[in-house]
Amino acid sequence: MAECVPNRKRIQELTEKEEKVLEERTPQSYELYQRAVKAMPMGVASTYQARDPYPLYFTHGKGSRIFSVDGLELSDFHNGFGCMVQGHAHPVIVETIKKRCELGTQFALPTEDSIAVAEILAKNFKLPQWRFVNSGSEATMDAIRVARAYTGRDKIMKIFGSYHGHHDYVMVSIGAVDYGQIGPRDNYASLPYGGGIPQSVADMTIPVPFNDAPMMEARLERMAAENDLPACLIMEPAMMNLGVVLPEDGYLQAVRDITRKYGIVLIFDEVKTGICTAAGGAVERWGVVPDMVTLAKALGAGLPSGAIGGTDEIMEVVSSGKVFQVGTYAGNPLSMATARASLERVMTPDAYKHLNYLNDRLIKECDAVCAKYDFPGYTVGISSKGCVNFAIGKITDYESFIKNQDHELVALAWLYNINRGVIIAPGREEEWTLSIQHNDEDIDRYVNAFEELVRDVTA
Ligand SMILES: Cc1ncc(COP(=O)(O)O)c(C=O)c1O
Repeated sequence: MAECVPNRKRIQELTEKEEKVLEERTPQSYELYQRAVKAMPMGVASTYQARDPYPLYFTHGKGSRIFSVDGLELSDFHNGFGCMVQGHAHPVIVETIKKRCELGTQFALPTEDSIAVAEILAKNFKLPQWRFVNSGSEATMDAIRVARAYTGRDKIMKIFGSYHGHHDYVMVSIGAVDYGQIGPRDNYASLPYGGGIPQSVADMTIPVPFNDAPMMEARLERMAAENDLPACLIMEPAMMNLGVVLPEDGYLQAVRDITRKYGIVLIFDEVKTGICTAAGGAVERWGVVPDMVTLAKALGAGLPSGAIGGTDEIMEVVSSGKVFQVGTYAGNPLSMATARASLERVMTPDAYKHLNYLNDRLIKECDAVCAKYDFPGYTVGISSKGCVNFAIGKITDYESFIKNQDHELVALAWLYNINRGVIIAPGREEEWTLSIQHNDEDIDRYVNAFEELVRDVTA
């Protein structure tokens, strides 16, 4: 990895220049923002859609592109925070939605499509029993409830820095306002993420570092000694909310062995890795089978959906009626029809081959740019997912992410991209998501924008 340290003053100058260019190009978004902010906090439906000084507003999407109210046509590497691996308005999905709409979209009664989706997921993720929800947050919330009922324990364990949705159980130790707050590595603090989360609820969630099985085991040993073991470990098998952080060799198997040893339910949160990285997500890719899997995002091909899979033994707490796993829109006909069409007809083996081809190109070419300019960055990715780490040292967990990632450069990269026809998810933690409708031209756009950034920053 290169040693050259970017010039701070230059990064600031370039940021101001690019921000001005964007503002000049997006007057209609600014106008809509003035209206929106009177009716919605920050002018958006979810805080994750907000942006300083104002968000851009969009009209439509087709294939790999989305279009802003200002007439920007952007290659979409944001892809709805990783939902739209099918690409926008995919003909099979459009046709499925149209047909289903004419037949009625919601009865709160079961349809055959939900059975077909459950069968496919059971085969792909090697877990026999499935239930459906409408978002990733619902999936992780219900999975944790099932694990608690199954074990009769209240505490849960998670990875520091991981995001699993916006309910109180998991809005804990996602980040720290002040780095000093996180505490020692063998005893990380349970930090509520934002206001409105009681400390007493946060204290039920115990964070441990990613890629460090011995540290996890040491914490569990202490908890076991106090007769205070958690019900479950919920984790992303590859972290997708600090860019992309892959599991080191043997880590997932070690976690599997440790959770078995202590009788803890292992939940792989595959809301981002599932569907997007392989038909069977991380379970297929790394060959480690957890006790439960949660899915959402790409499952519904652009419609709200989510799923929880589990072993027969664990899901018995639902079958027996002990746990109420419920929801008016759970398994609604529209989401189930699109999920089925996507799994059966869109996300085919050829589609994954195409994603792998595009991602390999992107990774190789971004790495080549870093090498050409002796730039302190490196690329990491799998299948549709990836990111450039603006970092000198390797990122393996939250601590190394905070220490190594150059956050100002991440913000500048977002501006360089959008001003050159590419949109990536905002924020320091996000990765790119490709769709099966992306093509070589989209990759060229990304690499060219990246090369301009690196050239200008190192000039
Ligand atoms: C790994 C993971 N789990 C759960 C969620 C929550 O999903 P949703 O936003 O659909 O509630 C997210 C959202 O980004 C996620 O990345």
